[in-house]
Amino acid sequence: MRLSRFFLPVLKETPAEAQIVSHRLMLRAGMIRQEAAGIYAWLPLGFKVLKKIEQIVREEQDRAGAIELLMPTLQLADLWRESGRYDDYGQEMLRITDRHERELLYGPTNEEMITEIFRSYVRSYKDLPKNLYHIQWKFRDEQRPRFGVMRGREFLMKDAYSFDVDEAAGRHSYNQMFVAYLRTFARMGLKAIPMRAETGPIGGDLSHELIVLAETGESVVYCDKNVLDLPIPGEDTDYQSDLSGIVEQWSSIYACTEDVHEQARYEAEVKPENRLETRGIEVGQVFFFGDKYSKPMKAVVAGPDGVERPVQMGSYGVGVSRLVAAIIEASHDDNGIIWPESVAPFGVTILSLKPGDAEVDLACETAYEALTKAGREPLYDDRDERAGGKFATADLIGMPWQLIVGPKGIANGEVELKNRKTGDRQTLSLPDALKALGA
Ligand SMILES: Nc1ncnc2c1ncn2[C@@H]1O[C@H](COP(=O)(O)OP(=O)(O)OP(=O)(O)O)[C@@H](O)[C@H]1O
Ligand SMILES: [Mg+2]
Repeated sequence: MRLSRFFLPVLKETPAEAQIVSHRLMLRAGMIRQEAAGIYAWLPLGFKVLKKIEQIVREEQDRAGAIELLMPTLQLADLWRESGRYDDYGQEMLRITDRHERELLYGPTNEEMITEIFRSYVRSYKDLPKNLYHIQWKFRDEQRPRFGVMRGREFLMKDAYSFDVDEAAGRHSYNQMFVAYLRTFARMGLKAIPMRAETGPIGGDLSHELIVLAETGESVVYCDKNVLDLPIPGEDTDYQSDLSGIVEQWSSIYACTEDVHEQARYEAEVKPENRLETRGIEVGQVFFFGDKYSKPMKAVVAGPDGVERPVQMGSYGVGVSRLVAAIIEASHDDNGIIWPESVAPFGVTILSLKPGDAEVDLACETAYEALTKAGREPLYDDRDERAGGKFATADLIGMPWQLIVGPKGIANGEVELKNRKTGDRQTLSLPDALKALGA
């Protein structure tokens, strides 16, 4: 992409309304625009990151055996009356009436709808297990939308729902999602710790929140520092095998959200020097809730004995849009964002320090073509601007690499390659720099 043709409305001033660094940087880097409280337009740079995060989530769900579908954002109120949640959900639910006076709502989550779909087609244990997910916009009329996309009213969520014949099988599905989440967040460069959590309006008795430690986080958490060093399961993990060892390894070390924290147990189990009481960002949550929805909604399957029973369910959410902000909270410096390679909107920024200079143009075009061909998605700053402004923008928008091409260097056959994270700069020939970038 040539920056002269792209749409990157970078702000010079720090927006006064933004209280946390990720919100400030997302506004300054032209990633989002607020259209109403807690409702954002995703500008091209932000949208690219959102899509990359979504794709990692999708790949890890698929790897774990979940199957993607897409449910609508609007749902019938009557469906929610079946579970009893229509009245319980309260003011967070956006309720809508259509021209036929039919009551609808903008989905805050999808347990009811997926249960309705499941019960329409599945009757026998032979069709189980099933885990169905979608990645869809949700709406919750949050009392205090704040911190940009961190706590929006409209936000993008991945939500998966598992269906099993009995509790033991249901726990296996829970474990599969638990492991998938460890891998998902690690691939984004995040350390997300599963912490025992309250189940809230979703219900059930087994739940973990996946928390990224951050001072700006809204959740208060208590944990044993040792949990930070546990290994992440590899790509070759066999999701059909028994995963309880991995889940046990993570859940045997103390890590709790405020809601379920027990001070006495914490002090008994965790040595004083290992105690960590801090804040974090909830990027995902897993629940096992058995027949909470299947029973009232009559989603039953016949077991091997021919007897019908409510299907055992769990649900598993990831805050896809919140993750964009969470990654920035975890990875930035005074000059701007530092994208991990896996979610960077572009792989490398090419900075032309003198557009119009024949040698510089030639080197930049050569690099642009080679990097594009190699799939490195270069962003080519070909604008007629001061070098200082270009350096500042490149640091702000945070691509992992900067390829700096100036007239002095090119006269010696050299370019500079800067690593955004470490700040290291290397002077190389153009072919060597391209080789270092995998082109
Ligand atoms: N208002 C929101 N804005 C952005 N992301 C959200 C919001 N609410 C929830 N999420 C994300 O969706 C995921 C799954 O939803 P879940 O129902 O568990 O949320 P929640 O527990 O109500 O979240 P919170 O406690 O932050 O309000 C959460 O882990 C979080 O990452
Ligand atoms: Mg939650």
